[in-house]
Amino acid sequence: MSTGLAVGVGSLIVGVIAILILIFTSFRSLEVNEIGLNYSGITKSVDRDLYTSGIHFLGVGHSFIKYPTTVQTYEFSKGKGSDAPSVRSRTKDGLEVELEISFQYLYMSLELYDLYMQYGGLEKLPCMKIAIDILTDVATQYKASQFFFDKEKITFAMQKAVNKTFAQYCFATVDYFQLKSIDLPDKYEIAIQETEVMRQDIHKAEAEKAKMQIELETTILQAQIASNININKAEANGQSFYKIQYQQAASLKTIKDALGLSNPDLLDYLRAKILREYPEDKMIIGMA
Ligand SMILES: *[C@@H]1O[C@H](CO)[C@@H](O)[C@H](O)[C@H]1NC(C)=O
Ligand SMILES: *[C@@H]1O[C@H](CO)[C@@H](O)[C@H](O)[C@H]1NC(C)=O
Repeated sequence: MSTGLAVGVGSLIVGVIAILILIFTSFRSLEVNEIGLNYSGITKSVDRDLYTSGIHFLGVGHSFIKYPTTVQTYEFSKGKGSDAPSVRSRTKDGLEVELEISFQYLYMSLELYDLYMQYGGLEKLPCMKIAIDILTDVATQYKASQFFFDKEKITFAMQKAVNKTFAQYCFATVDYFQLKSIDLPDKYEIAIQETEVMRQDIHKAEAEKAKMQIELETTILQAQIASNININKAEANGQSFYKIQYQQAASLKTIKDALGLSNPDLLDYLRAKILREYPEDKMIIGMA
């Protein structure tokens, strides 16, 4: 009798504990940065409904398939902790190129059911392979020189391509993209750097020369305009030739400086100019 009672109480306690465990395990929680799908371990089925952070009563045998709501990263580089090595490809002109790339993506919450149906929660590896494929392919569309001079354009094209493919196959958007390093054969890199330095030097020298030329021409032009005005003014006022010469002195000094003439040179220049330009009947040669 007492043994029977003991067995009865024992099974009651076991039963109560079992029920408590069942109830307890029917509650499932999601962290702040998680979003979940209701999964039944008994029927192996998933609901389309989404659950956000907090504690939810899902029912016996149910649990959450969890996805992050924060941006996720893929990194392909030589660095430690990267998901895969650098992306190796060939340029349009056939050179080997090695690219260090990272990008950030965000799962489209409304498509999580489809994502789960597609990959059963194991999307990380297949999506990485898809990304590497696309990046390798985009790299072949650009010449080696473009990797030097058009990096932004290539970065943009790569992001656009991965974003498009991810929307279709990985139910995610690629919001940030970094083309961190570009490694071309050393021989090519040295050659192109030398060419570029030379190109810049030539460009600089040409710009300098053009600037000097313009300055010189402007100075001469200003001086000529000034002297003509002075002659005209002086003639109108009936001033003497000497006075005109005196007024011209200032502008002539500018010409002298601009052309780098010595004093005797300037006098020669002036004589020639006067003989050439001044009406003969008004001329008095009065210069030593
Ligand atoms: C989870 O899905 C099951 C059906 O699979 C459903 O009976 C249950 O109510 C769902 N849980 C919630 C919290 O909606
Ligand atoms: C990525 O694709 C989505 C559509 O799937 C679009 O709304 C978004 O603007 C794209 N982002 C970039 C950076 O191309």
